[in-house]
Amino acid sequence: MRLNVPFLWAVTISAVFAGELFQGFPLFIDKFKSSDLGSEYGRIRTIPAIRFQADGQSCFAAQDLEHIVIDKTFACAKDKNGHTLIPPTLTEFAQTFQEDVGALVGIQPQISQGTEMQKKSVFLTLNKNGTHFLDAAGRPTSEGYTIDATDSRIVITGASPLGVWWGTRTLLQTMVTNQGCFPTGRGSDAPGWGERGVMLDLGRHYYPPEFLKEMCSFLSYFKQNVFHLHLNDNLFINHELQSEEEMWRLYSGFRLSTTSSFVNGLASPANESYTRSQFEDIQHTCAQRGVTIIPEINSPAHALAITKWKPKIALRGDPSMLNISHPDTLATMKGIWQTFLPWFHCKTVHIGADEYSDQLVADYSKYVDELATFISHAGKQARIWGTFPPREGGNYTKAIDVQHWAPYEDNPYFDFIQNGYQVVNSDFAFYINTKWHGYFPQTLNKTLIFNGNPQGGPYRPFIFDTRNATNNALFDEAGILGHIAAQWSDYGPSASTYLEAYYSWRDSLPALADKTWGGDISEQEYDAIIEMLIRSAPGQNLDRRVKSENDVIFDYQFSLSQPGAKTIADRSANRYNATNYGCINHYEAVRFSNACFLETPLTSKGRNYSLSFWIKPDVSSDQAILFSGSDSALYSGYGSSSNITMVSGNQPYSLNYSLPIGKWTHVVLSGRDKRTFLSVTESDSTQRTMEFLAKVEPKGVPGSNGVMFVWMPIAVEAPLKRIGHGFSGLMKNITLVDDHWGAWP
Ligand SMILES: *[C@@H]1O[C@H](CO)[C@@H](O)[C@H](O)[C@H]1NC(C)=O
Ligand SMILES: *[C@@H]1O[C@H](CO)[C@@H](O)[C@H](O)[C@H]1NC(C)=O
Ligand SMILES: *[C@@H]1O[C@H](CO)[C@@H](O)[C@H](O)[C@H]1NC(C)=O
Ligand SMILES: *[C@@H]1O[C@H](CO)[C@@H](O)[C@H](O)[C@H]1NC(C)=O
Ligand SMILES: *[C@@H]1O[C@H](CO)[C@@H](O)[C@H](O)[C@H]1NC(C)=O
Ligand SMILES: *[C@@H]1O[C@H](CO)[C@@H](O)[C@H](O)[C@H]1NC(C)=O
Ligand SMILES: *[C@@H]1O[C@H](CO)[C@@H](O)[C@H](O)[C@H]1NC(C)=O
Ligand SMILES: *[C@@H]1O[C@H](CO)[C@@H](O)[C@H](O)[C@H]1NC(C)=O
Ligand SMILES: *[C@@H]1O[C@H](CO)[C@@H](O)[C@H](O)[C@H]1NC(C)=O
Ligand SMILES: *[C@@H]1O[C@H](CO)[C@@H](O)[C@H](O)[C@H]1NC(C)=O
Ligand SMILES: *[C@@H]1O[C@H](CO)[C@@H](O)[C@H](O)[C@H]1NC(C)=O
Repeated sequence: MRLNVPFLWAVTISAVFAGELFQGFPLFIDKFKSSDLGSEYGRIRTIPAIRFQADGQSCFAAQDLEHIVIDKTFACAKDKNGHTLIPPTLTEFAQTFQEDVGALVGIQPQISQGTEMQKKSVFLTLNKNGTHFLDAAGRPTSEGYTIDATDSRIVITGASPLGVWWGTRTLLQTMVTNQGCFPTGRGSDAPGWGERGVMLDLGRHYYPPEFLKEMCSFLSYFKQNVFHLHLNDNLFINHELQSEEEMWRLYSGFRLSTTSSFVNGLASPANESYTRSQFEDIQHTCAQRGVTIIPEINSPAHALAITKWKPKIALRGDPSMLNISHPDTLATMKGIWQTFLPWFHCKTVHIGADEYSDQLVADYSKYVDELATFISHAGKQARIWGTFPPREGGNYTKAIDVQHWAPYEDNPYFDFIQNGYQVVNSDFAFYINTKWHGYFPQTLNKTLIFNGNPQGGPYRPFIFDTRNATNNALFDEAGILGHIAAQWSDYGPSASTYLEAYYSWRDSLPALADKTWGGDISEQEYDAIIEMLIRSAPGQNLDRRVKSENDVIFDYQFSLSQPGAKTIADRSANRYNATNYGCINHYEAVRFSNACFLETPLTSKGRNYSLSFWIKPDVSSDQAILFSGSDSALYSGYGSSSNITMVSGNQPYSLNYSLPIGKWTHVVLSGRDKRTFLSVTESDSTQRTMEFLAKVEPKGVPGSNGVMFVWMPIAVEAPLKRIGHGFSGLMKNITLVDDHWGAWP
């Protein structure tokens, strides 16, 4: 099937929607949804699904949305009950909503303040009645909202501005799944659990700020409100490492960078860490869409980046652990926290504290207590990974939140909840690892999301064990804070590109978002709308889609341009004309020399694509760039090698192939789902297709000839910004095709 609708609302809007509504909500939903509707419930097909009672055959059409009216009384109101300390005002949320409407519908409604609803508008207001919206445990939640539509206006009433924001997501999604028309009627919606989101391992793999911000937009569209960033870690110390010297050489990262003298030298290099202003920007951008960054600085284990900086506090025998008994250890960690606490605009911070030596449980408890107390003095809540429960000798304050992950580390219900701790569920049923892992999968298990309750039904945050109900809490257990699905980068920077982390979540995370909110969309319903919704998610373009009139995105034929012309015409219907920076036209080709290049108005194209060109290099050259873009580059040679190399995230992926010198070769670079190919046809008609591969080295020591490795596919976006740079030779007939159907090369 082909879905070629980048700007869905722009297509003809028809009001045939009544049959689109689903009837019937399972009864248990009533447990945590305030009930101000009649006794018969319908639903709107959104993710999460919401209860909604349509009252007729009419609807409010997207193109009638001329105004966004903010209730004057609440224009500056903020939600103080959420996770963030920088909550946007109702007005700020309205502005982001306005941008989204512009991007999705192509119209710009006016924003104004007012006291009542008016025609052709969405009216945004608050209902501060604390018992109106309740969570799974029956507590008030500030994230609830009602949405009420007639054919002339829509009213979204939130428990707080954040509730209104989620209401705007419902509005946008409904317009997308319902052909641009919001059914008249009334819906009421609130999340069952207060924390819903993901964790990304940035310690073992750097991810650029832009990627994190785009991920927040994606999360927000599905009403996820937390992005937990694991900011330091190292490749793991396994039994194949023979010497401590080898352990010290493992890749490690610490991603916060500052000129503060106390932490001088701790951060990863500038290109792999965030400055304060970058981190501010990430937090603010995410907060604008209702997503809170929860930062984690992990110690006393997983701390090689810290011990490399201060070796004397390393634990002998395993330098990735801190020696808690060393007199400088606690002071060092307090100093690090003191430095970075002012950066963090959230109520909870994560101190890691997993997988420490089980010989040192008493020291561990004291350490965790002291750090948590230190953090509480700064007005924040501390969180640890579930480690050493009381039954194993752990003895730390119940004021610490516990993020459960492994059933062999703790039984979250019996060990923690029953002992008075609050628990976030990150059970490794939903752990994923980039590219390859001996145990964890690479994508979320959708079947498990829809069937993860051992007593029947979908997964929910109160389920710690998807096989044995004895280990699970009750639906309305108050000790469960929510659910975070973690993605790890165990094999370091070379195993995956940045965007592959997105693809690991892309297809199934919204399903989990439905379940952790409390929605009840069925798998069949989900499959019918998910692709449409992903493609409409505003504020991001993680799929790296390129707008195009048809399958040909660009087509550069140099014969049509004048020698030395400044503009190279794109012969496709898109007219993505390129600019020539110093290259010379040579008959039907373009001659590259010195540092000349062509520049297109595009940057990158996601899967699937075919970038085709004819090339005739003058000399064998290393470091010559054929194409470069925002996500990747294609080199005719890299380092000291003249082998064709694809680079992404500064990691090279080389083929055992060099272009013939002084002869024309037809080259097609193609992205097909998780794989990237290069097909060549040489002048003597020799044809071959090669695949770019990533060498995943579980042993992890760079250059150590790891005794174990696996070759895995790598998905690299097409580099589109520049053509040539440092390349010497001719190119001609450069075309880019969008391969929706994805024929294999
Ligand atoms: C608050 O909301 C609850 C539930 O909808 C309702 O029963 C109650 O009457 C409301 N209270 C006020 C003061 O409006
Ligand atoms: C930890 O530090 C203490 C104090 O410096 C030292 O006596 C001890 O040997 C260290 N232990 C290990 C295992 O590194
Ligand atoms: C736990 O720690 C508290 C104070 O930190 C102490 O009073 C108590 O004896 C400890 N309990 C155990 C079982 O070690
Ligand atoms: C996904 O979960 C289901 C249900 O537990 C299980 O049967 C299946 O094997 C899992 N799939 C994968 C790929 O792990
Ligand atoms: C289920 O969990 C309970 C409590 O942890 C345990 O006693 C029981 O043996 C488990 N049942 C199965 C079938 O594993
Ligand atoms: C691209 O070039 C063509 C041919 O020179 C010209 O007609 C067209 O206006 C240009 N388009 C843009 C967007 O510059
Ligand atoms: C950062 O720079 C170092 C040194 O040049 C390089 O090895 C590394 O790959 C770069 N990392 C990224 C993400 O660009
Ligand atoms: C380049 O490719 C050749 C095969 O054509 C291979 O023998 C060589 O190892 C490759 N060099 C690098 C650095 O990848
Ligand atoms: C390239 O060739 C080298 C040496 O022949 C070989 O070890 C390596 O596996 C090849 N790389 C790929 C990506 O095929
Ligand atoms: C340009 O390349 C395409 C394949 O990408 C081919 O179909 C077309 O015939 C070529 N045009 C010329 C003028 O060589
Ligand atoms: C990409 O191509 C693959 C393989 O042909 C196909 O299965 C997949 O649906 C295509 N993906 C897109 C986004 O078109």
